[in-house]
Order: sequence, then C-alpha cells, then structure tokens
Amino acid sequence: MPPPRRPRPVSESTTPSGRHPWLTRRPEWTALEDHRAQGIPRPGLRELFETDPDRARRYRVRAGDLLIDYSKHLVTDETLALLQELATATGVFELRDAMFGGARINTTENRAVLHTALRAPRDAVVEVDGETPGNVVPKVHEVLDRMADFAGRVRSGEWTGHTGRRIRNVVNIGIGGSDLGPAMAYEALRAFTDRGLTVRFVSNVDGADLHENLRDLDPAETLFIVASKTFTTIETITNATSARSWLLAGLGEEDKAVAKHFVALSTNAEKVADFGIDTANMFEFWDWVGGRYSYDSAIGLSLMLAIGPDRFREMLDGFHMIDEHFRTAPAESNAPLLMGLLGIWYGNFHDAQSHAVLPYSHYLSKFTAYLQQLDMESNGKSVDRDGHPVEWQTGPVVWGTPGTNGQHAYYQLIHQGTKLIPADFIGFARPVAELSEELKAQHDLLMANFFAQTQALAFGKTAEEVRAEGAQEEQVPHRTFRGNHPTTTILAPELTPSVLGQLIALYEHKVFVQGAVWNIDSFDQWGVELGKVLAKRVEPALSEGAHVPGLDPSTAALVADYRELKLR
Ligand code: F6P
Repeated sequence: MPPPRRPRPVSESTTPSGRHPWLTRRPEWTALEDHRAQGIPRPGLRELFETDPDRARRYRVRAGDLLIDYSKHLVTDETLALLQELATATGVFELRDAMFGGARINTTENRAVLHTALRAPRDAVVEVDGETPGNVVPKVHEVLDRMADFAGRVRSGEWTGHTGRRIRNVVNIGIGGSDLGPAMAYEALRAFTDRGLTVRFVSNVDGADLHENLRDLDPAETLFIVASKTFTTIETITNATSARSWLLAGLGEEDKAVAKHFVALSTNAEKVADFGIDTANMFEFWDWVGGRYSYDSAIGLSLMLAIGPDRFREMLDGFHMIDEHFRTAPAESNAPLLMGLLGIWYGNFHDAQSHAVLPYSHYLSKFTAYLQQLDMESNGKSVDRDGHPVEWQTGPVVWGTPGTNGQHAYYQLIHQGTKLIPADFIGFARPVAELSEELKAQHDLLMANFFAQTQALAFGKTAEEVRAEGAQEEQVPHRTFRGNHPTTTILAPELTPSVLGQLIALYEHKVFVQGAVWNIDSFDQWGVELGKVLAKRVEPALSEGAHVPGLDPSTAALVADYRELKLR
C-alpha cells in the first residue's frame, strides 16, 4: 500500500504577478514528492518494460519530422499525469498563449517575447504589446526580403568589395546570441553551403581570435558582419574596430571602403551610425527578440549568405512547424512540454544537477554550446518573477559533445559514476547527401553506437550477467552496470535546414516550459552584468597601472602581479 499523501496547504497570499507564489507547497508539487518518495519507478526500467510490453510504442511522440522516444525514462503513466497536472496548475499554457500573443511576459525588462514571430508565415498576424504596437509580421518579412536581396547580390558577385573584387570571405563579429546561433547553424548546415564562400565567426576579445581568422584573408574580398543587438557590447565593438583598421590598412586607408565591406545587424541604429556603418547597410531586429533567441532574425545573415535565402526559409518553416506543435498539440503528445517536464522530474525530484545533450552528428559539433546559452542564460535564475528567492532548483548545467567522441571520454562517468545525468541522444537516419558512398556506409556504425548507448544506459548489465560471461568474482562489481540512466532519443530523417529549425524550436520551448513552472523570467540575463561592469573598471589598472578604488585584496594583489609580469 502506498503511504497516504501528506496534505499541505497552498499559501493564500498572492504576489503582484498573481502566479503560484509557493510552488513547493502546491498540492501538485507535493504529490510528485510523495510519488518520488514511494520509490517510483520501482524497481527500474527493465521491469517497467517487462510489465508493459506496449511501453516503447506508447512513450513516443512525433513533432514535425522529429520522433521523440521517452520510454527510457524513470516514469510511469502516473508520473506523467502528475507532471502534467503541475504544468496546468502553474499556468504553463496561459503563459505560452501570452507569449505567442505578444504580451510583455519578460517582466523585468517590460518586453514582449516574440521570437516565434520571426518564423511566422507572411500572411500571419502577430500583434505586439510594446512601444510600437501592431502587427510585426510585415516588418519581419521586409527585413527578410532585404537580407535575401543582399545575400543574392553577394552570392552572385553583383555586390563587390571597394576595389571591385568579388566577396569570397564573410566574417561575422559578434558574441553570445550574436555568434553562437549562426556559428552553430553554419556548422550544422555546411553540406548546404556555397563552398566558394568562406564564413568565419569571431567572438572572443582575445586578439588571437581575430588574428587567426584574418591572417589568410584578402581584405579586398572580405565582408564583415558586425552583429550586436545593443551595439554596445565591448568585445564586439573592440573586434569590429580592429577589423576596420585591418581592412583600411589593406585597402589604402580609404574610409569609403567601409561601406562595401561592413554591414551591421542590430536593434540600435544610432550606435551603428556612431560606429561609422551606414544605416543603409544595417539589417534590423527588435527589442522583443532576445539575443539567445535571435539567430532566425537578421542575426542569421551570415548563415543566409552561406546557405542562400531559400534554404534559410526552409529553416524558418521548420521552426514554425514546432511552434505550431507547441501551441496546439495536446499536453500528452506535446514534445517540448514533455521534455521540459521530464527535466523538472529529475532536477527537482531526483536532485540531478546537469543535463547532457549528445548529438550523433559531426555537423552538430556546436549544438550543445548553443544550447548552453539558450538554457543556462534563460533559466539560470534564483529569484522568481516577483523577486522572491526560489525554494526550488532551476536550470541545469547543460553540457555534451558529439556522441562517439564523448563515449571515449566522459561516458564512463555517466554509466558507472555516482551522479544521475539525464541525457538527450540526437541522431539521423540518413547521412547528408554529399558524402562518398564509402563514408555514407560509416553512418550505420555511428548509429549502432547511438542505439547501443541508450540501451546500455537504460538496462545496464547485472552481476549475474557478468558472472555468466565467466568474469572472475573480484571483477564482478567493476564490470556491472546498474542501468536506469534516463535518456530521450530524438531521431530525424536527415539533418536538413528544416530539421535544424525544428530541433532549435523544440529546445526553445522546452526551456520556456521549465521557466514557466519555476515561475522565473526566462528572458532576462541580469546575471551577466556585474562581471561586465567590473571588467570595465579593472581595465585601466591593467593597461595603465591606474589605481582602481574598491578592488578586493585578492584581486588587487593579482592585478599587481599581472602588471609586474607583463612589464618584466
Ligand atoms: O551575455 C550577455 C548578452 O547580453 C547576451 O544575452 C547576448 O546574446 C550577448 O550578450 C551579446 O549581446 P549583443 O548582441 O547586444 O552584442
């Protein structure tokens, strides 16, 4: 007999947002605690599959081209029902509708959150509640059309550099959301790129980044894209200034050369003009697009140059497909909802601290780095929407690299370490078309690893099985795998632009669901400010030896050591 549920009161007090102030006292939360305390699921995945022969068929959803199998999770029908009750009680669906409807759900910045409008079809109507109210879709398509026109002219050779030479190199200068998205997508879609065009991404304020990326380029053939939502980010403005010096040094110091070699992607026309870029060469986006949600806006220009406007459109359509799925699919088959809730089950009820994302595609080598910003900048919060400290865990540490490489590095810890690490495995049925027949044949080996790993993680290997293999008794504990490591398998036909858009939207909405349940603002990022301000203050101490008041003793001593070493 399961123990009776402990009745706990929900606080009657309300907060200005009017939303679930005491999450952990909600009956839906305590029901999950009780469910977990009963040892659910007991005894484990082997038994869950044995007792429900239909589990593999029932525990999967389709979203667009994505098949998402969640049967290897430590959940039962009851767990899933309780998690869905929690989503309903915490207002996930209302917040979702408010987001799609253009309400200002980014309350700490008083902004709407409308990245979904960036991929809405031309005839859609999305009204924003902001400084310039109205339907934003025509503006979105006007910029997309300008980007397509520009990309077409560069790709065809009609747009030339200052000396009349064709543009053969594109260098995107940006950081965070103005870098990670296009850099990740360029890698992901390399097979669809114009191989005659070199596209590079410079983000680090370490001068080595710009140096190494420019050293083999000809300025006469190089276009710089300065990508910055605010156009005030010090790393980007510093690198863009150095790039302009490099260009002018190479092209004979003619200021007018800048117009043919620099374009800007920003929401801030004034700062773009201050920098010296003609605003006719600026592609705009809006304050209702968060940096980490922006690569399908003008921030994707480098990607559009690489893959062309048609492929870019296919990618946007992929995003939109999952937006519609998230907006309309019933809770029990809503993929981002399920993935978000499963993360909550482990993070809040099993003390899991991290979440691994393991793509079995070399082209997705930057996918997890991109997700780190998406997830950790969005949900790395410790106060709720009303500024009260949260009493529950929020966003996990997200990490991972492409699959087989990780197998020979850190998978040991996932299989036999002491930590619970839920993981997403992402794989494709077909390799990209461009590979030779011999290389295509390697795909089955890659995917054999993909399937083998999730099986090993889920079902492990018992001591009896190890003994049956003839292992010496003292080795048995070392060669036993306890299993019950939860994984989601995401399988798609092929890594196309559309499928990439679908995958990104899936994770965007998963992050949204978790932030909604935790009652945090997933769309601000105040946590990056303090370090930025202090860096500005410390810099004169390093470069000029200036006295900087207010440095703590440890940092002041290190700064002095730095100066001494630097000048020695
Ligand atoms: O790291 C903080 C941050 O504001 C990110 O959210 C953003 O993506 C990045 O800096 C770059 O900002 P910007 O596009 O304004 O240069």
